[in-house]
Amino acid sequence: MQYTLGIDLGTTGVKVLLVSEKGEVVVSGNGEYPLLMPRPNWAEQDAEAWWHATVAAVKSCLAQACAAVGEEVKAAAIGLSGQMHGSVFLDAGGEILRPAILWNDQRTVEQCRQITAIVGAQKLVELTSNRALAGFTAPKIVWLKQNEPEAYAKVRKILLPKDYIRYRLAGVFATEVSDASGTLLFNVRERKWSAEMLDALEIPGGWLPECFESTVISSHVSADAAKLTGLARGTPIVGGGSDQAAGAVGNGIVNAGVASCVLGTSGVIFWPCDTPACDSQARLHSFCHAVPGKWHMMGVTLAAGGSLRWFRDNLGQDIKAQAADEGVDPYVIITRLAEKAPAGSEGLLFLPYLAGERTPYADADARGAFLGLSLRHTRAHMARAVMEGITLSLKDCLRLGKESGVNASRIHFSGGGARSGFWQQMAADIFNVEVARVGSDEGPAYGAAILAAAGAGMFASVETACSSLIHTKDIKKPAAAAVERYLRLYEIYHALYPSLKEFFNEDASFVASYPV
Ligand code: XUL
Repeated sequence: MQYTLGIDLGTTGVKVLLVSEKGEVVVSGNGEYPLLMPRPNWAEQDAEAWWHATVAAVKSCLAQACAAVGEEVKAAAIGLSGQMHGSVFLDAGGEILRPAILWNDQRTVEQCRQITAIVGAQKLVELTSNRALAGFTAPKIVWLKQNEPEAYAKVRKILLPKDYIRYRLAGVFATEVSDASGTLLFNVRERKWSAEMLDALEIPGGWLPECFESTVISSHVSADAAKLTGLARGTPIVGGGSDQAAGAVGNGIVNAGVASCVLGTSGVIFWPCDTPACDSQARLHSFCHAVPGKWHMMGVTLAAGGSLRWFRDNLGQDIKAQAADEGVDPYVIITRLAEKAPAGSEGLLFLPYLAGERTPYADADARGAFLGLSLRHTRAHMARAVMEGITLSLKDCLRLGKESGVNASRIHFSGGGARSGFWQQMAADIFNVEVARVGSDEGPAYGAAILAAAGAGMFASVETACSSLIHTKDIKKPAAAAVERYLRLYEIYHALYPSLKEFFNEDASFVASYPV
């Protein structure tokens, strides 16, 4: 039996899976690290903490594997995936220059404006297939130049989060097409770095890692990393994929016609495409898929699970205690609560823009809101409204997809939120399309292990691997009465942001007047 290892470097923690050639998850390892928010709108992490957590998780995974399989297990290859867009700045000696700036950091609104002015909005879409958004990598590089010139002067390499783990595992600077797509320095159509973007932003090409396709072997585990982790020296490491692209592979989303909805910290609608499709205004992201020769479009709600976590932490302290008593996850209790309120939460609406927003409104100043609150509403209505608001925001993404010509006859549901059958039915009703789950609910780490298996020659292609390993289950169909109610609710929801936009801008400048 052959095995591969999938490593996913997420925002809240790292997950490591050992997967057999039959697609079974043999064992897993996990590790956590803190999210640093030193100022409003900032989100950072210590790349060294990522590495320590990864080493511990790999070690624990391999130790358990030995016991589970009855002999020492050697991975045939490793696949990496991770949170997108983050920037790890390294000096000439490969040392970290400052904490990594993450995908959900919103400090670079001004730099996005500057990049758009320098390159031109239309030209930017032509060169990169995307528009400048605060979470992307290039604006972070410009921010560093303008705000921390001493650190900038020392930069010699810039890596994406998972590629820093590759660097520590193999001593090699490399990335792959799906994650490179989210830097705004990548020609997504041609699947290579954009010399024009680098010139326009005066970023030396040598600062960027070599870029591979996701199934191609990029490097091998070094002797030092082997000693630290227990991995065999020389184990091949394939390109891997962004968490979204690898997650899509893990969900079997590799052929046009079936999309995915991932409910993690962020919420994502992901459509695979056979051509480098792109919305003319780039309201959806247009990136390379981790499947060679394919692309994908994507809409992102920044605070999806993040909104429900906010509810849990700020309005549900007692829920946490109750969950501990019952020995269940607090989200089980929150879902139970939400089920008590009727569809549409009797007119209570929630806007999930707690971290600003990307799709459909690229607005770092947008903020969350409960609207329509009355004396009649209870915490049950609020819990349901939060879940509905997140799902309505994802419906906004689906609406943009339709306008851009990408459609889906079915949606595969995954991520932490997908564990709830209640939320899955709500998604089917709000989206008005079939929503299914797949056999493995392990997310991007599972997809990364599949990319490694395809790269190691265990399957002829990623598509073949997916069709033999991934099967749908629990298909939920839209229920007519709920669909009708939600269609009306969506029209009300959809009109809210445009009427609040001006307020959000003013509120943001008011918040900026507080001392940091
Ligand atoms: C995608 C995005 C997030 C992160 C974190 O564009 O920013 O989904 O990858 O998971």
